[in-house]
Amino acid sequence: MTRQMYQKILVTGGAGFIGGYVVDELVQRGYSVVILDNLSSGSLKYVNPQADFIHGDVRNREDVRKAFLKGIDAVIHIAGQASIKLSFMDPYNDLETNTLGTVNIIQACIEHGIERLLYASSMTIYGTPKVVPTTEDSPIAPVSYYAVTKYAGERYVHIAPNHPGLKKPLNVTSLRMFNVYGARQSLSNPYQGVLAIFIGRVLRNEPIIIHSDGEQSRDFVYVTDVARAWADTLENPDTIGQVMNVGAGKPISVNKLCDLVLNVFGKSRNDFPVQYAPAQPGDIRHSIADITRIQNILNWSPQVDMEEHGIRATVEWARQQSA
Ligand SMILES: NC(=O)c1ccc[n+]([C@@H]2O[C@H](COP(=O)([O-])OP(=O)(O)OC[C@H]3O[C@@H](n4cnc5c(N)ncnc54)[C@H](O)[C@@H]3O)[C@@H](O)[C@H]2O)c1
Repeated sequence: MTRQMYQKILVTGGAGFIGGYVVDELVQRGYSVVILDNLSSGSLKYVNPQADFIHGDVRNREDVRKAFLKGIDAVIHIAGQASIKLSFMDPYNDLETNTLGTVNIIQACIEHGIERLLYASSMTIYGTPKVVPTTEDSPIAPVSYYAVTKYAGERYVHIAPNHPGLKKPLNVTSLRMFNVYGARQSLSNPYQGVLAIFIGRVLRNEPIIIHSDGEQSRDFVYVTDVARAWADTLENPDTIGQVMNVGAGKPISVNKLCDLVLNVFGKSRNDFPVQYAPAQPGDIRHSIADITRIQNILNWSPQVDMEEHGIRATVEWARQQSA
């Protein structure tokens, strides 16, 4: 199972924020890529022109079949309903997209004899961890519907290699991503990442709203580092059967994040309004990845430091968008 065994990769959600970068990384490494995406939150704007794009839905088995008929030999399943808030507002869509959609992908892998499947899992499955930084062996204790449906998808993926109907071995890996950020993340979608939401608010001259006291911490990892982790995982057989955290391994409080964003804009709390609001359901107090496992298996480490480069690069991109 080395890189040479895979040529054509299906990336579900390849028109989305993370998926788009994963597609770019795969194309750059010489793979052929097929994308399956229903454009519910993704955009054609960032779809790599060398990829074969199929407008379709992972909840629809016929759409999934169309993608598998493209002669693919590995699948990176990133499509998903990515918002904690929306999981409470529309639990049926959350369940159907994240869990049933994943079952559809697994069934298609089995039917088509696909040997490699990678899954986009989430740090939210740890809930409010007792120990931070949090290792992959920590208890699973979701506090949102979203985390439940993502974890269900992850477990389906990791049980699938035991399926009695397999024609060939199915080799699976999940990446439990922490807070992924960077250029192309929606600046107007209130259900996406907190950094993009803050940047969008400054650009629109709207007050930054911090939920809870702002001392909750997050582990922000830059999207190109994440894309490299996905491609490295695909190419490394030592990752088979593993779940691996993908994060920067260090915390930033939401208050600090707010100040860093304002600073890049040449502003501060003295001249820009910052308001506090109650915590949101499903919010986690402290979330920091222990990245020892991915460092050991893949020799992967994040290269983009948030304070030195990541926020600045994201703000520069955002400014160009709004210009
Ligand atoms: N952004 C993060 O910090 C983060 C962290 C952990 C896990 N994840 C997971 O990573 C994945 C990608 O997240 P993202 O931040 O890039 O979000 P995103 O919304 O930008 O990307 C999701 C993509 O999936 C597509 N999609 C949604 N429902 C679909 C369906 N039914 N059929 C086909 N395509 C569908 C969307 O159109 C979009 O292109 C999600 O599964 C999310 O749960 C994200």
